[in-house]
Amino acid sequence: MSEIRFFSGERIPLELHKVRVVQKLNLVPVERRVEAMREAGCNTFLLKNKDIYLDMLTDSGVNAMSDRQMAAMMVADDSYAGSATFTRLTDKLTELFGTEYFLPAHQGRAAENIIAMTYVKPGSIIPMNYHFTTTKAHITRLGGTVEELVSDEGVRIESSDPFKGNFDLERLEDLLKKEHGRIPFMRIEAGTNLIGGQPLSLSNIEEASDIAHRYGVLTVLDASLLQDNLYFIKTREEAARDLSLREITRRIADKMDIIYFSGRKLGFARGGGISIHDEEIYLKMRELVPMFEGFLTYGGMSVREMEAMAVGLEETMDMDVISQGPLFIECMTNELIAKGVPVVTPPGGLGCHLDATRFIPHVRQEEYPAGSLAAAVYIAGGIRGMERGTISEQREADGSEHLAAVELLRLALPRRVFTLSQVKYAVDRIAWLYGNRDLIGGLRFIEEPSSLRFFFGRLEPVSPWMERIEKAFRRDFGDSL
Ligand code: F0G
Repeated sequence: MSEIRFFSGERIPLELHKVRVVQKLNLVPVERRVEAMREAGCNTFLLKNKDIYLDMLTDSGVNAMSDRQMAAMMVADDSYAGSATFTRLTDKLTELFGTEYFLPAHQGRAAENIIAMTYVKPGSIIPMNYHFTTTKAHITRLGGTVEELVSDEGVRIESSDPFKGNFDLERLEDLLKKEHGRIPFMRIEAGTNLIGGQPLSLSNIEEASDIAHRYGVLTVLDASLLQDNLYFIKTREEAARDLSLREITRRIADKMDIIYFSGRKLGFARGGGISIHDEEIYLKMRELVPMFEGFLTYGGMSVREMEAMAVGLEETMDMDVISQGPLFIECMTNELIAKGVPVVTPPGGLGCHLDATRFIPHVRQEEYPAGSLAAAVYIAGGIRGMERGTISEQREADGSEHLAAVELLRLALPRRVFTLSQVKYAVDRIAWLYGNRDLIGGLRFIEEPSSLRFFFGRLEPVSPWMERIEKAFRRDFGDSL
């Protein structure tokens, strides 16, 4: 992808690939969308794909593959032990990260499980710039706690800071000084997920790692969203402008003791694993792989996916490939800003994030504004996003609601999947909804599981507001879908 300028002056992201396999989509009428949302208990996780036009739930495992990845899948070596595919994947990781050892796992959270089971004990503290849901769950399950040290800008919805994912290095140093005895490792999430796909700078990653090592603390990189972070370092960090993507990757990897990733994101396939420099660390974690994942040369992954991942990792070193996501997200975010819609700025990786708190300030946080907005955006356009607000939190031990720091609706842009006209369609329907935002009301639970309620919970509107949106849609769009 490259950003080009039209003769009129308009700048647009231009695809440097062509589409060769397509999947038919349905755009069902607004009446059906209201019905489908009711059937799904107002939870976008429970919608059926046949009712969805643009699936912006996640970028996980749904990125488009290249022709070279598909071709590589055909030569996968399907053997339980000693597979040549495993050797090819390990060699690619060695080439890019300089790591000697690789432990395969079926996806990112499985890698987190292995690392946490090896290092986290009751009373452990794990510092990180920001948590991810599955990461935190594994650490707290084992009696550890997470200490978030992202810079103040990180949780500000509107900002001009190009690296909102950066550590607050002073707070990191203070914590390590006091508690290093209880800190088995620190975790660096580059780029971040829950604060809007925001990156860290190369210099912040290097300084944070140096601080950790000064106190004898291991450094762990969550590289699931590294491809976006590499793009932002290359385009936003003056000191990295003349470095190649390979050089930036190596500079980061050299500072890490452990690098793990979700291959559903990094490498445009499905799977995951852990890359390690040091033999002792590798041996410490090794036996958990055959016990929980699969033998050491596949770790629960299909060899076809591993083969595709090896090629996908190589393609991650190509700016034309990794710029597609961030440039589409920037385009969508800027068009929404131009129409007055409140969004997270600056645009990051992963997706475009709507700020539900300002979109529908009349919906109280106890009635789940981000969840309500997710339901409303689906009704307005058949677009499925993911609630990233209070519904995604867990209740306190006493049963009271834990109100989230931010109420966001994440609209993920899986890589190379959507076209610019689809992005423009999404912008139009969201802007229309913003003009009719007074119609949107809140939600309440009718079935609330005690854990992971955002996956399975069912809710209902507190008033007939979904039908009101349907009526307004018909008034303004006539017979159109
Ligand atoms: N780390 C980060 C930063 C992630 O974004 C994810 C997954 C994981 C770890 C876990 O990896 O899904 O392969 O087990 N994020 C997905 C998402 C679920 O939709 O953002 P996984």
